[in-house]
Amino acid sequence: MIQSPGVFEKSPAELKKLSEKLAIPYEEIKSYFRDRKLPAGEHLVKIAEALGLSILQMKILWGVVDDQVLAGLQKNLPDIKEPLSRGRKHRKLKQTMTTELGTLYRNDCMDVLASLEDNSLDLVFADPPFNLDKKYPSGMNDLLKEEEYISWMKSWADELCRTLKQGGSLFIWNLPKWNSELASHLNKRLYFKHWIAVDIKYSLPVKGRLYPSHYSILYYTKGKKASHFIPDRIPMQICPKCYGDLKDYGGYKSKMNSKGVNITDIWTDIPPVRHAKYKRRKNANELSIKVLDRIIEMASRPGDLVFDPFGGSGTTYVVAELKGRRWIGTDIGPSKEIIDRFAILETERDILHKYRNDLNCLFTEQGKEQRKKRNLWTDESFRDSE
Ligand SMILES: C[S@@+](CC[C@H](N)C(=O)[O-])C[C@H]1O[C@@H](n2cnc3c(N)ncnc32)[C@H](O)[C@@H]1O
Repeated sequence: MIQSPGVFEKSPAELKKLSEKLAIPYEEIKSYFRDRKLPAGEHLVKIAEALGLSILQMKILWGVVDDQVLAGLQKNLPDIKEPLSRGRKHRKLKQTMTTELGTLYRNDCMDVLASLEDNSLDLVFADPPFNLDKKYPSGMNDLLKEEEYISWMKSWADELCRTLKQGGSLFIWNLPKWNSELASHLNKRLYFKHWIAVDIKYSLPVKGRLYPSHYSILYYTKGKKASHFIPDRIPMQICPKCYGDLKDYGGYKSKMNSKGVNITDIWTDIPPVRHAKYKRRKNANELSIKVLDRIIEMASRPGDLVFDPFGGSGTTYVVAELKGRRWIGTDIGPSKEIIDRFAILETERDILHKYRNDLNCLFTEQGKEQRKKRNLWTDESFRDSE
């Protein structure tokens, strides 16, 4: 977080006065001081003068580290030395469940992370609270100031960079707004692989804005090459009513891989978990098993160690257990929902099997049957005619 010596703590009356003094519209002054957007051009010069700061100091205060700031800091390197710190002290952890493959804690993820060795995790999936004032069972504050929330995200992301193995993969699920902040932070630490857009509508249309229709998953690796990357292939999309093609494949039909099509960085086949029958917790977000199955399959092998710092209803841990991965989990709130979920692991296994049955084929069994009935082409049409 920016350690501002009072620069941003201005009352509306003070902002109004500044706006009049500098002849800058009030709304713009508000965006500079309330929302901490760096002024540009003439406004930058005027405000720097009024605050008695240099442009470089302004940028540092506003948290903008560009090449000019970096060069300034590098020039003054001897003056900005800090004593080396060995990081957070170990706190006693509260273990709430162990399974054949995993351990669950009821702790702040920063405490669990502090107990983990450097380079120890093969795969991390993180789905933090989105700072939308949701009520979580832990009673945690889900409405921090923007800069506090961003600073909090960066603190656990740094720990994930430390604990991830060379070749390990990191996936972070969040709203595009927050992941764009985190991406610029992570770009300096890990290797960017993908910004995956998960096509799910999550709010009503808002006036003056586009209809928000995707969650983002950031995908990074430690080191240039992932030690494991084998994505599933998925069935070709067909019309759910008439089972016909949705795209014109022209002369390429016969060349289509009978194991299915490549997964792209836009995922349109992820169901939201809304139905009470499938939802394991009443209040908070719960991800579909399908997301975790796809990620765990793509970026880890059986026996690998998976970590999720924000347990929620335990989707990551359930999928890791069912797929033979070792796992470490934690949630700051009660573990009951996760423990209850492990008690019905066989139901979860059935759901997982259902999803996996429909993978690595060009058409699902049902899709193929319906297409054959309607004399539509399938991968078998070409095999038969060869
Ligand atoms: C969006 S939910 C995760 C949902 C999960 N992916 C699932 O599918 O069920 C976020 C969770 O993070 C937990 N949480 C928030 N801050 C935490 C922290 N500092 N350490 C550990 N867990 C935290 C909340 O209690 C909440 O259950």
